[in-house]
Amino acid sequence: MQLEEIRALVMDDLQRVDQTIVQRLASDIVLVNRVSQYIIGAGGKRLRPLSVVLAARACGHRGQKHVPAAAIIEFIHTATLLHDDVVDGSDLRRGRNTANHVFGNEASVLVGDYLYSRSFQMMVELGDLRIQEVMANATNTIAEGEVLQLMNAHDPETTEQRYLEVIYRKTAKLFEAGAQMAAIVSGSPHEIEQSMVDYGRHLGTAFQLVDDALDYKATAEELGKNLGDDLAEGKPTLPVIYALAHAPAAEAVRLREAIETGGIDDLDQITRLIETSGGLEYTAGMARREKELAVEALGKLPASKYRDALVILANFAVARTY
Ligand code: IPE
Ligand code: IPE
Ligand code: MG
Ligand code: MG
Repeated sequence: MQLEEIRALVMDDLQRVDQTIVQRLASDIVLVNRVSQYIIGAGGKRLRPLSVVLAARACGHRGQKHVPAAAIIEFIHTATLLHDDVVDGSDLRRGRNTANHVFGNEASVLVGDYLYSRSFQMMVELGDLRIQEVMANATNTIAEGEVLQLMNAHDPETTEQRYLEVIYRKTAKLFEAGAQMAAIVSGSPHEIEQSMVDYGRHLGTAFQLVDDALDYKATAEELGKNLGDDLAEGKPTLPVIYALAHAPAAEAVRLREAIETGGIDDLDQITRLIETSGGLEYTAGMARREKELAVEALGKLPASKYRDALVILANFAVARTY
């Protein structure tokens, strides 16, 4: 409900973002349109463009450059999803079969590249070297995060620190870059820009922590993704890392094996183990702390309804069930 209220606050901006997304998606190549419209048409929560628009308004932006900025962030996000579902072998996304399931891995990877490169064309159009620098660094960091995650896969020795490094890179960095870009297009002073960087990083970290807990406790209907995907991929996410260290030895062995083999035959049992050993609560607690840090970072911004909305967005990121 509250999310709807903050969307309503920037409804005109969001409509312009949607228009920009639709216009800039278009290609002469039929298959590009088909695949990109398939995934974009499924919607998604559009939290990243919402955060960019709200951040720009909270920084006092009066122009329109935040609109393409928000679309750029959603394009990059969508490109990573197309690639991610191929890498993860996922077949459900946004409540539909994944693009790789419908169109094949080749089309998904290539259209992901199309969206990436389109977003870089749009960045160049913004004509600000700082924005290009921020986004070039962000996309490079995201790619590293995905590779680092691949290196951690099936490794039950993965530490909390290595996990946090992965989620910062693969997820938080894009939220961070979006919020930073919002500050840059608004012509904000350095101190405010740094506040937005901190907000985005903590928001994005909280968001991914919750995502990793939801993989063991949501319902596929509500989440629009299959549960247990992370375990099937042998991903040692925080709920698992915590459970491995705190579950009774005999059960920890089973969990260890599941990570090593990516076995989800015992998903129900493993889910219970993660829950009873406190892995979900521990993850939720860390997400709440990150959320608090995100809210704290907003302290330097002038009070406004947009700043309040950024607080609500951070609360949604941790309270969400989808
Ligand atoms: C999914 O992000 C990928 C993660 C970083 C966990 P979202 O949950 O924001 O995906 P959509 O855009 O709403 O589908
Ligand atoms: C999302 O990662 C992809 C990126 C952040 C690049 P995940 O694999 O954890 O997300 P879901 O669960 O598939 O959405
Ligand atoms: Mg995935
Ligand atoms: Mg996930």
